[in-house]
Amino acid sequence: MHTYIARRTAISALVAIAFAVVPFATQAQVMDEVPFITTPDNVTMEMLKTANVGPKDHVIDLGSGDGRIVITAARQFGASGLGVELVPDLVAKSRDNARRAGVAQKTEFRVQDIFDTDLSAGTVITMYLLPEVNLQLRPRLLRMAPGTRLVSHDWDMGDWQPDRTTRVDVPDKKVGLEKFSRVHLWMVPAPVDGLWCSGATRLHFQQKYQNYDARIEGGAAVAQSWAGRISGVDLPAPVGGPMRPSFTWRDGGLDVKTSTAGLASGTRFTRATGNACPA
Ligand SMILES: C[S@@+](CC[C@H](N)C(=O)[O-])C[C@H]1O[C@@H](n2cnc3c(N)ncnc32)[C@H](O)[C@@H]1O
Repeated sequence: MHTYIARRTAISALVAIAFAVVPFATQAQVMDEVPFITTPDNVTMEMLKTANVGPKDHVIDLGSGDGRIVITAARQFGASGLGVELVPDLVAKSRDNARRAGVAQKTEFRVQDIFDTDLSAGTVITMYLLPEVNLQLRPRLLRMAPGTRLVSHDWDMGDWQPDRTTRVDVPDKKVGLEKFSRVHLWMVPAPVDGLWCSGATRLHFQQKYQNYDARIEGGAAVAQSWAGRISGVDLPAPVGGPMRPSFTWRDGGLDVKTSTAGLASGTRFTRATGNACPA
């Protein structure tokens, strides 16, 4: 049921966009074609560069159309990839395109609903869907491994602000009135919300997406509060102002990066088992 609603939402919204920008005489034709709109080559390149895709990456394109993003990731950046697409003809075309591009061994294309797809192998997720669909995917994307890069063509994810947005000129853009595309990048932030302990030192985070408020106190630490921003697995010290601790998320724990404020480099914090740290 959920899948059906998601699919209907995607298709009806794409139809709405097309109706807004395409002359009446061609609307019947667009009704058939509109769910599949390709990302232009220069935007595809910008998406993959923005995500810093390389040979160790596995790129999953959600709603992969003719396979161009996954094929480009394999051919130009050496990545492996998976394309997931509802329309069987597009999946057949993608496999054919991958064979022609010489990347059939590195790529897979499946007829599958994106809401039924296991995303856990992806190190990079690409999307050219719709705002509503991005929002439906958001809870799953936020639960992916910290540091996973998410790139969306044009559409954002509501109040989860992108870490970076770039603009790419597209003079012959087929949808919308703007002649450019936006490329949004998010890095899945380490999940740090809550209380962490290192002996008697207490580290408390209140997290919203990649932003946090932190307080540290107890043990050898100099008590202090600060606000910061998570960049995947890294919690760098905020730039400017007093020196704050910085951390790296690793295997479910937080390691102090550089000796600061009474904390030695390498000090490890683990999640509190209750709502207090050992005295
Ligand atoms: C705008 S096109 C983008 C194609 C390709 N990713 C690109 O950027 O060139 C969106 C694609 O998503 C597919 N799609 C929409 N909803 C889907 C779903 N729930 N599961 C799988 N594919 C879906 C559509 O069939 C369409 O081919």
